[in-house]
Amino acid sequence: MNRKITLFIFVSILLIGSAVAQETKDVEARINEIISQLTLEEKVALCHAQSKFSTPGVERLGIPEIWMSDGPHGVRGEINWDNWGYAGWTNDSITAFPALTCLAATFNPNLSHKYGVAVGEEARYRKKDILLGPGVNIYRTPLNGRNFEYMGEDPYLASIMVVPYIKGVQQNGVATCVKHYALNNQELWRGHINVEVSDRALYEIYLPAFRAAVIEGGAWSIMGSYNQFRGQHCCHNELLLNKILKTDWNFDGAVVTDWGGAHNTKQAALYGLDIEMGTWTDGLTSSQSFAYDNYFLANPFLKMLKSGEIDVKVLDDKVRRILRLMFRTNMNPDRPLGSLNTQAHLDVARQIASEGIVLLKNTENFFPLDANKKMTIAVIGDNATRMMTIGGGSSELKAKKEISPLEGIQNRFKNATILHSMGYAAGPSAYGRVIPSKFNADSLKNAAIETAKKADIVLFMGGLNKNHEQDCEGGDRQSYALPYNQDALIAELLKVNPNLGVVLVSGNAVAMPWTSTVKGIMQAWYLGSETGNALADVLSGDVNPSGKLPFTFPVKLEDNAAHSFGKLSYPGDSINQYYKEDILVGYRWHDTKKIVPQFAFGYGLSYTNFSIADIQINKNEFSAGDKIVVQCNVQNIGNRAGAEVVQVYVGKLKSKVARATKELKGFSKVYIEKGGTAKVEISIDIKDIAYYDETLKSWNIEKGDYEIHVGNASNNIVKKLKITVK
Ligand code: BGC
Repeated sequence: MNRKITLFIFVSILLIGSAVAQETKDVEARINEIISQLTLEEKVALCHAQSKFSTPGVERLGIPEIWMSDGPHGVRGEINWDNWGYAGWTNDSITAFPALTCLAATFNPNLSHKYGVAVGEEARYRKKDILLGPGVNIYRTPLNGRNFEYMGEDPYLASIMVVPYIKGVQQNGVATCVKHYALNNQELWRGHINVEVSDRALYEIYLPAFRAAVIEGGAWSIMGSYNQFRGQHCCHNELLLNKILKTDWNFDGAVVTDWGGAHNTKQAALYGLDIEMGTWTDGLTSSQSFAYDNYFLANPFLKMLKSGEIDVKVLDDKVRRILRLMFRTNMNPDRPLGSLNTQAHLDVARQIASEGIVLLKNTENFFPLDANKKMTIAVIGDNATRMMTIGGGSSELKAKKEISPLEGIQNRFKNATILHSMGYAAGPSAYGRVIPSKFNADSLKNAAIETAKKADIVLFMGGLNKNHEQDCEGGDRQSYALPYNQDALIAELLKVNPNLGVVLVSGNAVAMPWTSTVKGIMQAWYLGSETGNALADVLSGDVNPSGKLPFTFPVKLEDNAAHSFGKLSYPGDSINQYYKEDILVGYRWHDTKKIVPQFAFGYGLSYTNFSIADIQINKNEFSAGDKIVVQCNVQNIGNRAGAEVVQVYVGKLKSKVARATKELKGFSKVYIEKGGTAKVEISIDIKDIAYYDETLKSWNIEKGDYEIHVGNASNNIVKKLKITVK
């Protein structure tokens, strides 16, 4: 490069760098100036709610209120000021984006950025300063009711996928609030269960995605979780908040409670909490109207500050963090205006939805279905018409539109005769309770069998839904099996029409005893506004599926690591829960213990075939500071364009500590035309193959031999290469 150009770039970087530093200094100076003008009462007021989803400003100084909204799949409808009812506004319908499990299944960080930008624009237009999401709790058990809101079982995948989402949202001047920090892996006793987990599993499995969200994503706020960790609630937890988050990771944003997650004034004051939300307003167990002054960080906090029991510096640190968040959001005069319900947002939703769908089985090329053909398709199942933006708890949405699977199929398959039969019925969704359906199960089943008899093809659209004890907050699933007797129904349908494919709508793995008997299986998640269209895109072959599973589907529940250790491991004894599987979560467990899953992490088929060849590595011996660079050629050897995800896993041979056989350390998704070849390069920092050494209380790059596994699924490794770390 020309020396003048190099000098110009260098000087520009310096200037930009110093401008940013100056801006930061200015903001910090302004924050100090504001703090000096605030009364003690005004400062305390900033630290707690004034309504269900807002905190007060300072009227005297023009400091605005902070408005928040759930997250993470769209901007939730307006909730009443002082109770959980919907406010009935007419301007709060939005675009529903696919659930985060679907986003994770795309293995496409660019789509995560598009998702963040789009949902951030909607949040901005809806005048929200904080979007409560994304969620990155690790998928530990298929029974957890909230897995659908998270990004799967692998800390590396979740870390890579969460960062662009955060950047996308925040470029709109809207803060993300990454949740639920940390170890909220069950809903059943989430409010009080104490999680006991080793340091190693904490640092290697449960924290990396939060760390990436903070350090690489630059998240402006984080939400503490309901549960306890080592005897302290996570919303005021000395280790998680003061030490790890605010000291080790240098987090400069605000810690927000989960709604009702604060339990003690002194701990809330001293152990890292900044903003208290959703507390039962008598401070105990039941709600009192308009009693926000009773919050732990309200009058009781003020009293302790006045008496000198708590130093004002503690308060000032919280206020400084809150004001910093405001300068990034509602006090930033340059933030964009946002937009709502645009075609661009629907396009993003549809693209993510269709790219996240995972093709699990495809005997005799059952899929795609030819949309030009005159044929009769029987669409059977409650999920063919069920609105999935409704229910599920706090992630529920008021979608401006939601195309059902049936509608999407009817629109795309115009030459076909589409028959529909419910087959089974789930009952309406309600928070915290199950309302059984009033339909007669036998009649529904018999009608479905009759419908299936008349069809050339049966598409069974089942799975879970957003009802209590399904994929829903506030409860866990009661069983790993599909609910509402779907297994028996599938068996009956197969008897009359074996030309049957299953579309599973769920955010969780389920038992699939019919896997070998059906022709095709598609994992379709919760897809948001464009559900039916995206599904029809993949069913018809307009889009070639390229999603990969972000978590393992075990054959049976006991094959899952957490469950194999019995009740104390999940759900615990109602006081404590012990993560006995330690670091062996998900595929790490299945691989290491050689337990073959129903469907493996990272697995997903395409309508074309790929060959991964010429796999090479930059060298065989590495030292600290080096990069492992894996190169390969991926050839599309099938009949249509498609995308493949090359996955690189690393395993330590003969380790001095317990290790998983292999761990995902890099991946790359490539789109390749029919007959084409793509060169893929994946690089891994040696520091990223370190394990967390409990004796050193730090990361340790163990010397010796490692195996690099390259493939397109955790259970389909094309080549293993040996390297040595000196
Ligand atoms: C959920 C959070 C949510 C909050 C506000 C809580 O019950 O756990 O994820 O953001 O409510 O709705």
